[in-house]
Amino acid sequence: MSSHDSIRAIQWKEGTLILLDQRLLPSEEKYLQLHSVKEVADAIRDMVVRGAPAIGITAAYGVVMALTNRYASAKNWNSELESDLTQLESARPTAINLAWSVRKMRRVIQDNMENPIDAAFSLAQQIHEDDLQANRHMGELGSSLLDNQCGVLTHCNTGSLATGGYGTALGVIRSAYAVGKIRQVYADETRPWLQGSRLTAWELKQDNIPVTLIADGAAASLMSQGGVQWVIVGADRITANGDVANKIGTYSLAVNARYHDVKMMVVAPTSTIDMNCSSGKDIPIEQRDPSEVLSLNGQRIGPDDVDAWNPAFDVTPAGLVDAIVTEQGIIHSPNVDKLIALMKNSS
Ligand code: MRU
Repeated sequence: MSSHDSIRAIQWKEGTLILLDQRLLPSEEKYLQLHSVKEVADAIRDMVVRGAPAIGITAAYGVVMALTNRYASAKNWNSELESDLTQLESARPTAINLAWSVRKMRRVIQDNMENPIDAAFSLAQQIHEDDLQANRHMGELGSSLLDNQCGVLTHCNTGSLATGGYGTALGVIRSAYAVGKIRQVYADETRPWLQGSRLTAWELKQDNIPVTLIADGAAASLMSQGGVQWVIVGADRITANGDVANKIGTYSLAVNARYHDVKMMVVAPTSTIDMNCSSGKDIPIEQRDPSEVLSLNGQRIGPDDVDAWNPAFDVTPAGLVDAIVTEQGIIHSPNVDKLIALMKNSS
């Protein structure tokens, strides 16, 4: 691994899935060992593991686990397996990588009924490895868009913690930092779950990339003072017309970026593109527990008897996105024709 890329949050060892528990970072580095499909689905839902590509990879290993257990114990293993796959698919609704990965795993099992376990395991490993390779490639592509001495702002966590390794938006930042293009990295703290302050700041520190945290509400001021030239974010789902669902607050950044003449880059593998969704209006947005907004570190901060609205994601219209960077290439000013052309050869 390179000097700016040291973290691997998802590991598979002899039938056990090992996940770095992201709920505890940065104060505790604890790895959980998972042995059943229910444990895997719970880990996705409860955000032990989070980030669209990481969820997809985790689910792929969850399918291997489900298959191994069902195949050994039941005659009608195939129909019982289907309920496990549904359990995994429904763990979180917005990140399309989850459904994409389970669909691929389902297909490989159906195509290899004689020896499904070996075929499923090798596909899960391939999904994991392909994601890492895609991230390295996107890192170089995205970095090529940046001028020297760039200030960049990122949101949520899109790094090794959120992927098979290296990261999407954070991969671009890693690559650009390594070649000396970046003057300053800023990270939004990303209320309410604080992926920015708890995860991105921790991850960049581990990998020797200096970072300055800002409160989400400080982004517009930072832009108005010329502090950043690019906002670089990931995605949970990109629709056929180029709309982007990503962590709540991304849309505000895009509006502010356009007003201040700051460029907006979305970095995501093609597994995040959902050509079956024609626009962002079709994307199911996960609503999370109001307590995430009303509490901090388990401590209630809002007054009693006050409610909170807590959508986990928002949708940035394609018109506010300057570039979508994928492992298959860069789309500038995305629209439906460009997305169709890009996705022609993707499965
Ligand atoms: O709720 P989370 O932490 O899973 O949300 C993650 C994000 O919104 C990321 O930006 C997105 O999944 C891309 S991760 C490479």
